[in-house]
Amino acid sequence: MTTTLAPSPAETRDDRIDITLTVNGRPEHFSIPPWVTLLDLLRERMDLTGTKKGCDHGQCGACTVLVNGVRVNSCLTLAVVRDGAAVETIEGLAKDGTLHPLQQAFIDHDAFQCGYCTPGQICSAVGVLREGRATDAASIREHMSGNLCRCGAYTNIVDAVLSVMDREDAR
Ligand code: FES
Ligand code: FES
Repeated sequence: MTTTLAPSPAETRDDRIDITLTVNGRPEHFSIPPWVTLLDLLRERMDLTGTKKGCDHGQCGACTVLVNGVRVNSCLTLAVVRDGAAVETIEGLAKDGTLHPLQQAFIDHDAFQCGYCTPGQICSAVGVLREGRATDAASIREHMSGNLCRCGAYTNIVDAVLSVMDREDAR
């Protein structure tokens, strides 16, 4: 599917670049200005609003998604730079109606309050497990220190990640 929005008054056809991304397993084509961030592309042009905009400055981690399997702050990433990449968001983690093990663990361990940081926390936790950096509570805290939780649910977030740390299907 190609998504092309009407240009704003300050924007001309010449400003646009064609890119392809695979988002949650589905190929998508976009014609976008080069200044559109991956976060805005996901939220504003695909309605994937599970990925949150907290600070929009790379300081809170609410916008964390996985690009080619690696966690990134999507607010700091221009979408055109990721042409050809595979992007996973919180919406793509559940499979066949079953929550991803980390999603279930966050529920089981009461690892959120308002939930605003939660999609970024979970995507970041998937990345940490894939990186093989989660070995104990201290390492989880360290490697997820870029994901802030204003509600202070950190203890339960770490417990949730610890509970699935050894599961292959949590990566
Ligand atoms: Fe991207 Fe805060 S919104 S790091
Ligand atoms: Fe509210 Fe983390 S649960 S910010």
